[in-house]
Amino acid sequence: MSNPKKLYPKGYEPIHQVSEKDNVGNELLNAILIDHAKEKEESLDTDIFDVMSRRRSTRKFEPKLIEEWKIEKILAAADTAPTAGNFQGFEIFHVKDEKIKEKLVKAANNQPYVNSPLVLVYCKNPSRVKLDFPATTLKEFAIQDATLAAAYSQLAATALGLSSIWIGMINKKKVAQIIRTKLVPSSILCIGYPTQQKLPKPRRNLAELIHVLG
Ligand SMILES: Cc1cc2nc3c(=O)[nH]c(=O)nc-3n(C[C@H](O)[C@H](O)[C@H](O)COP(=O)(O)O)c2cc1C
Repeated sequence: MSNPKKLYPKGYEPIHQVSEKDNVGNELLNAILIDHAKEKEESLDTDIFDVMSRRRSTRKFEPKLIEEWKIEKILAAADTAPTAGNFQGFEIFHVKDEKIKEKLVKAANNQPYVNSPLVLVYCKNPSRVKLDFPATTLKEFAIQDATLAAAYSQLAATALGLSSIWIGMINKKKVAQIIRTKLVPSSILCIGYPTQQKLPKPRRNLAELIHVLG
């Protein structure tokens, strides 16, 4: 097996390793996502509909570290989201540095819970979207790509017994400066173990929400 390290960004060394030969398709993704051993150990309910029905935003987290295998699944989930033309017009910044987290709190309208155990910043990357459409369309695609990716991560976090808060109230310029990118951030996902389990919030009646034509 050749050195697989060169395939991964600095600071991210996957727990699951695959040979370079295997890494041409989705071997690493599948290795991460389909390994359910640890989920079984923790008796986690990962049924997608159960997960959806119990997800609830959380703004108070235990100061407990999140296991690497869970972080890996949350990141892998983002990589499975549909994207425009499959060009994956987004990037994820995994913020580990406590000082950067503190700066993000300020750039997010002083929302203190942004300083959470796991902080992921989702950014648009329209330059990846190689479709023959106007630049405005590519930007719109990129924000949809980044949003879907974050939503997939959010559901994965819930499936793994974690909770999260989606932060949309951000000063994009400041966030970009803080994480040292020229890309435009779309959201910050803050994840951790909740201090208490809350019931999901009430939603609109489906009959009111759905508009049937024809
Ligand atoms: C686009 C968007 C932006 C949001 N921005 C913030 C935010 O800046 N701060 C915050 O505390 N919650 C934010 N939220 C979380 C919502 O308040 C939360 O999802 C909503 O109240 C529904 O609650 P639930 O997630 O528990 O179902 C945001 C959610 C979305 C989808």
